[in-house]
Amino acid sequence: MRKGLFITFEGSDGSGKSTQLSLLKEYLMNKGIRIITLREPGGVAISEKIRGIILDNRNTEMDPVAEMLLYAASRAQLVSQLIKPSLEKGITVICDRYVDSSYVYQGLARGLGIDTVKIVNDIATGNIMPDITFFMDIDPELALKRRLNSSVPDRLENESIEFHRNVYNGYLKLIEMYPERIKRINGEIGIEAAFSLIKEYIDALLCRYIE
Ligand code: TYD
Repeated sequence: MRKGLFITFEGSDGSGKSTQLSLLKEYLMNKGIRIITLREPGGVAISEKIRGIILDNRNTEMDPVAEMLLYAASRAQLVSQLIKPSLEKGITVICDRYVDSSYVYQGLARGLGIDTVKIVNDIATGNIMPDITFFMDIDPELALKRRLNSSVPDRLENESIEFHRNVYNGYLKLIEMYPERIKRINGEIGIEAAFSLIKEYIDALLCRYIE
């Protein structure tokens, strides 16, 4: 059975991921490709409930291991209920954040280690990994400014600039670990310019995929 493409977006909060995700959705839909878009944590009812617990600003005492497991639990439900069945039906799935966020936020910034986070997440996802991942690369300080202008910060966004710098450096490390899958997109060159880069990667992937 033909499999749908699995595409994920990663980056700091405020890196412009969501804008690029919407543009890509429209681009693929115009090509007649069946598609669903999701966000993590969340995407289905149970995972949205877990999201509420994770991002609640009142949960300041949350233990890092508990945090990692909650993200993984939310992900396990999303994969089994929606991502896996959609891919099997040939539907393309675009997800705003996926396992790389856990590798970076919980594994590196919280210090649990990528290896531990990977073991837990391989169980949660049944080893379903994206075909391609776009990392929206913007300076963490600029991302912080953009965020402060836009919304009320959640529990993770309220972390210090050092935490967000660690997240950023964590992503750079991941790109070195998975150069085939993770593509770095300069998020400071303007929306259209960044999207043309994404389009190039997607067109190349579609060519290979359709062959
Ligand atoms: P959200 O409001 O969805 O952030 P954004 O719009 O930037 O994607 O909140 C998700 C937060 O959870 C974000 O700060 C990143 C963090 N996160 C993790 O720490 N680990 C994870 O596995 C995921 C998916 C997100």
